[in-house]
Amino acid sequence: MIRICFVCLGNICRSPMAEAILKNFIKENGEDAHYYIASRGTSSEEEGNDFYPPVKKILDLHEIEYDKHVAKKVVKEDYDKFDYFVCMEKSNMDSLFKIFQIEDCSKIILLLDRDISDPWYTRDFETTYQDIYEGILTLYKKLSNR
Ligand code: 4NP
Repeated sequence: MIRICFVCLGNICRSPMAEAILKNFIKENGEDAHYYIASRGTSSEEEGNDFYPPVKKILDLHEIEYDKHVAKKVVKEDYDKFDYFVCMEKSNMDSLFKIFQIEDCSKIILLLDRDISDPWYTRDFETTYQDIYEGILTLYKKLSNR
């Protein structure tokens, strides 16, 4: 069982989008039993909220299924519950180091080798979707070859 937690700031746009895309890949390949996938935010601003509505629209447009979402903030106790924390931007990694009270950790990684822009600010949900999809494709290939 591989346990992956996607991380962004608010947990209503990028990380739940990444969660939905990877879950679709896994489902299409009948591998549900091998993975546990979740997402969290580093801020408590949106805790308890559903996806930001334009994110649902872009997922619908690309025919990506998703479950009901309830935004949650990462807590220190999450550290042992996941094998990888896959972050949308470098600042998310720094926030996790603070929350987990550690200096570095190989299980905290970036989804892409660059920051994924936050559509909450850019309003460009399609570019964010394309970037996240690219990152998930690469991640899924790596996980499948483990
Ligand atoms: P996310 O986007 O980190 O991709 O979920 C944001 C959502 C909400 C806020 C910031 C970013 N906010 O400040 O409430």
